[in-house]
Amino acid sequence: MRIAITGSNGQLGLALRQTLAGHALLNIDLPDYDITDLGGIGDAVRLFGPEVIIHTAAVTDVDGCEHDPELAYRVNVLGTRNMAVAAQACGASMIYISTDYVFDGAQQDPHWEYDPTHPQSVYARTKWLGEELTRQLLTRFYIVRIAWLYGDGPRNFVRTVLRLASERDSLSMVTDEVGSPTYAHDVAGALARLIQLPAYGTYHLPNSGVCSRYDWAAEILRLAGAANQVELLPSENYARAAQVPKYVEMRNFAAAELGIRMRPWREALQDYMARAGLLQNG
Ligand SMILES: NC(=O)c1ccc[n+]([C@@H]2O[C@H](COP(=O)([O-])OP(=O)(O)OC[C@H]3O[C@@H](n4cnc5c(N)ncnc54)[C@H](OP(=O)(O)O)[C@@H]3O)[C@@H](O)[C@H]2O)c1
Repeated sequence: MRIAITGSNGQLGLALRQTLAGHALLNIDLPDYDITDLGGIGDAVRLFGPEVIIHTAAVTDVDGCEHDPELAYRVNVLGTRNMAVAAQACGASMIYISTDYVFDGAQQDPHWEYDPTHPQSVYARTKWLGEELTRQLLTRFYIVRIAWLYGDGPRNFVRTVLRLASERDSLSMVTDEVGSPTYAHDVAGALARLIQLPAYGTYHLPNSGVCSRYDWAAEILRLAGAANQVELLPSENYARAAQVPKYVEMRNFAAAELGIRMRPWREALQDYMARAGLLQNG
């Protein structure tokens, strides 16, 4: 297949490039390609002629979006419009990667793909507007919501926890923020299967199960054999610019109907840490 990947240097983009290496790929990322450039990105995509566009590029700094909403709207909303127009022009289908933050975190039951959304921050609103534009402009699209993502690359939550643990005697992590840690390679594998099927619509593809940031950090330290080196302190109400959901569990109903299931987050975390050489004695 001919596949264009936006955000190809990001966490998910890198995983997609590995997983889809047997296909013809167009890697779209700054500085070579800017998705906010309607004409330029349209020309580049038309020249390549993809059958599918996997649109992962976004401004992902959730607190930063509160300080620079114009950038967030330009990239996450108008950039998505531009990718949808490019898909229209060459008859490609499009996967739009969205987020659990489209939900407000008030519901204790798992969210179905079809539940009403209620985004609470600039980042969440811009990602939700990207969903809406995708729905309005395209007929052949997949909207795929994922959650707390980590993968290859120098910066992610796992590496941050391990770095802080090596620098400090104690570490505070919030207990009142609950979600699903999600391994980029698992998402890439699921997307590789999804694009083979004309089963357009909205999907939830985080790793299964939920935990708090505190639980996640505790598991990272345990797997790295660093649990005794640093005291992990539970905290609440960590002050930050953006309002983030307190509790989001997303049920995978639609993809599971196609046989696409995500493994539990602990299993995926162990696999990532083994591959990255971060396990104790690993
Ligand atoms: N990270 C999470 O926890 C999480 C959770 C749920 C959903 N998601 C969604 O999943 C997707 C992938 O996330 P990720 O963590 O892989 O993101 P990421 O690592 O931040 O990568 C995003 C990539 O997009 C690029 N980009 C930004 N603006 C661009 C532009 N104008 N033109 C072209 N490329 C541009 C970035 O380049 P620069 O680095 O140079 O800006 C970066 O390489 C995003 O859509 C995100 O909203 C992420």
